[in-house]
Amino acid sequence: MKKQAVGQSMDRVDGRLKVTGTARYFADHQPEGMLYAALVCSPVSSGRITAIDAAKALRAPGVADVVSHLNAPPVPGYKADNPNPKQGLKIFYDDRIYSNGQPVAIVVANTLERAVHAASLVKVTYAQEVHKTDMDENMGQAFQHKNMKDYLRGEADAWKKAPVHLEAEYNIPIEVHNPMELAGIIAHWETPDQLTVYAKTQGVKSVQQTLKTLFQLPESQITVHSRFVGGAFGMGLRIWPMEVATILAAKKIRKPVKLVITRKDMFTLVGYRPAARQRIGIGATTDGKLTGITHEAVANTSPYEDFTEAIVNMSRMMYACPNVNTRYQLVPLNLSTPVWMRGPGEATGAFALESAIDELAHQLKMDPLQLRILNHADTDPEKHLPYSSKYLKEAYEMGAAKIGWQQRSQTPGQLQENGWLVGYGMSSGVFSAGRGRATASATLKADGTLVIRSAAADIGPGTATAMVQIAADATGIDAKKIEFLLGESAYPEAPRQGGSSTVSTVGSAVNDVCRSLQQKLGEMASAGIPAFKGVKAENIQHEDGQLVAGNTRLDYAALLQLQQLPELTVTTTSQAGDERKHYAMYSFSVHFTKVHVHPATGVVRIKHIVSVADSGTVVNTKTARSQMIGGVVGGIGMALTEEALIDHRYGRYVNNNYADYHVPVNADTPPTDVLFINKKDPVINPMGAKGMGEIALIGFAAAVSNAVFNATGKRVRDLPITPDKLI
Ligand code: MOS
Repeated sequence: MKKQAVGQSMDRVDGRLKVTGTARYFADHQPEGMLYAALVCSPVSSGRITAIDAAKALRAPGVADVVSHLNAPPVPGYKADNPNPKQGLKIFYDDRIYSNGQPVAIVVANTLERAVHAASLVKVTYAQEVHKTDMDENMGQAFQHKNMKDYLRGEADAWKKAPVHLEAEYNIPIEVHNPMELAGIIAHWETPDQLTVYAKTQGVKSVQQTLKTLFQLPESQITVHSRFVGGAFGMGLRIWPMEVATILAAKKIRKPVKLVITRKDMFTLVGYRPAARQRIGIGATTDGKLTGITHEAVANTSPYEDFTEAIVNMSRMMYACPNVNTRYQLVPLNLSTPVWMRGPGEATGAFALESAIDELAHQLKMDPLQLRILNHADTDPEKHLPYSSKYLKEAYEMGAAKIGWQQRSQTPGQLQENGWLVGYGMSSGVFSAGRGRATASATLKADGTLVIRSAAADIGPGTATAMVQIAADATGIDAKKIEFLLGESAYPEAPRQGGSSTVSTVGSAVNDVCRSLQQKLGEMASAGIPAFKGVKAENIQHEDGQLVAGNTRLDYAALLQLQQLPELTVTTTSQAGDERKHYAMYSFSVHFTKVHVHPATGVVRIKHIVSVADSGTVVNTKTARSQMIGGVVGGIGMALTEEALIDHRYGRYVNNNYADYHVPVNADTPPTDVLFINKKDPVINPMGAKGMGEIALIGFAAAVSNAVFNATGKRVRDLPITPDKLI
C-alpha cells in the first residue's frame, strides 16, 4: 500500500502559480472592451443627497458615464414596499446617506486615471443630519436582536455571592479587514440578461444566489469566477453594495466594468470587526471551583442592517460552571455594516472571558493554567452532550512544556531580561467544528488522471492541496495525478469558505465522490471485464488506484481503456447525519506567549509564541502550520496594534491607510511554535478533521494581555495594548 497522503507536509499544488504571478486574481482579468470605475463617496455621515452635478465629469476625456440614484437601472430585487427599514443598503436607490464613505456615484472611463480624475469633478451637495458614531455616547440605544436571546443556566449573577469574585469591562475597538488584495469586482453583461462577474469572494455560489435575487435572473444566466483570492478572512462572505454599483454601471453602459476600491475605502465598504463593550462577572470558591459567570456584550451595527455574531457563546460552554448567564445587544451607529472577521465574535468574547479567568486566578493566588484545568468541562455544559473529541488537557500540557511555563512567576513584575520586564501568559480558544453540505464531481480520465470539481473557495489556506491529499487516500491514485478545481459557480454546489469548515465539508464530499467513483468502476468491471466475471462489485477491492479480486488486478485507467471510455464522471453530495444530536463538536486551541515589556517606554515585544491546536486529523502539516501562524499574526494585531479611529465630529476614520492603521509586520512576529494534537475525531467526518482557521486567533489577544499583566502588574482591558496604556 502507498504511504498516506493525508498528514503529509505536501507543497501547495498552486504554490508555483502564486509565486510566479501566473495565478489570476479577480482584477487580473480583462474582458474585451473593459472600462474602469471609480467611486464618489459621501463625506457626510448622515443626511440626504440634495443634488448631483455630473456635467463636468461627463465632459472629461474618456468618461463613459456617471451612475447614481438619479439614473441607475432599477434593481428588481429591491422591494420598495418592504416595511423593514433594516433590509440592507440598497445602493443608488434613494437620496439617503447612512454613513461616511457611502458610495453615491460611480464614474466609468476608459482608463483608471481618467475615472479617478472624473470622480473628483462630480459635485454632490448634501443636507446633513446629526450622526452618531460614538459607541460610548450611544450605549443608551442598545437593543436586543430577536435572534440573540438571553441565556441562563442555573442562577443569574451567581458570581456575586462567590467568596472570590470580580467584575470588569473589556473593550475592543473596530478592526478593519486589510488583506493585501483590495476588494472589487469586474461586471460584464454579455447580453442584457446574461451576467458574468469576476469576484473576490469566499463563495461563488453565494454570490450567484445574491445576484439571482437582486436581478431576478435564473442561475444559468449568472456566472461567477473567483479562482484565486488574495486574503479575505470574512469580508468575502457576502456581496457588498459597491459590487452591485459596478454591476449597475456595467448594465447601463453595456460594457464590462472593473472596480478595485482604494485602501481608504476598505475601511467603509467591506465590513469590519465591530467595536464591543463587554462586562464579565466571575466568581469561584476559595479553592478555585467556578460558581458563576455573567457575560454581557454590546457591539455596534449599522443603521440599515443588524449584524450579529457569537460574542458571548464561549462563556456558556468553555468551563464546568453551574451558573451562567449571558446577554448580547447591538447599538446602531452611522457606520457601514460590520461583518465576520477571523475568529469572529468568539475572538471578541474570548478576550473578555480568558482575561477574566486570568484575573480570577491572580485573586485566588493560583496558576491560571491550574485554574483552567480545575474547571475543565468533561462534557459540554451547555448542550449536555459528550464531546466527539477533546484533547484540551493534553494541549495545555504540550504548550506549557514548550513555552517553559514553569519559569513564570505567580507574582507579577518579578522577572527581567536585559532591562525588560518578562511575563508569561496563556489563554484557551474554542470554535464550533462544523460540517455543512457540499457536492463534488470526480472525472477519471483514460490516461489515469483524476479531476475533482466543487464550487468551493480558497482565500489562502491551501484548499486544493488538502482536497488532493484526501482524494489521493480515498482512491489510491498518486496525488500528482489528481487536480482539484474550485472557484467557479458552474461547478457542483459548495458553501462559502468560512467558519473553519471547508476541509470538513468539502473534504467529505471529495472523499465520498471518490468512493462513488470506485463503486461505479467496480460495477463496470463486474459487468463488463472477463477477468472479474462472477465477482460481485461489492467484493472487488480497491488498492493503489487498481481494482483487485484475488490475484486479478486492473488499473482504473486500463478499465476505461477497455471500455473505450475517454472519461467517467460521477457526482456526489455529502452532508452530516444526526451526529450533532449525540455529540458536541468543537476545535480547541491553547495559546502561550512570553513577552518583554520595556519599563520606561511601555513597548511590548512578544518574544515567543506557542500555539497548540486540537483540531482532529491534520490533513497537511505544512499548510496547517501556516494557517495557525496566520491566525496568530492576526491575534498580534488585535492585541497590540489594530484600531480603527473615528473622528466623531465628522464620523470619519482618521487612520484609514496602512501607515496609520498598524497591522503586524515581520518585526512584530516572534518565533512561533505550532503544535498539533493531531488525533482523529471519530465522529465529525471521514477524515476526522475538525476546523482550524478560527481557533488560530481565538483567545490569542488574552494570552498577550495576560502576559503583559504578568510582566508589569498592569491589567489592560482595552485593546490594543499600546505603550501609552502601560506607562
Ligand atoms: Mo471566516 S470570519 O468564517 O471568513
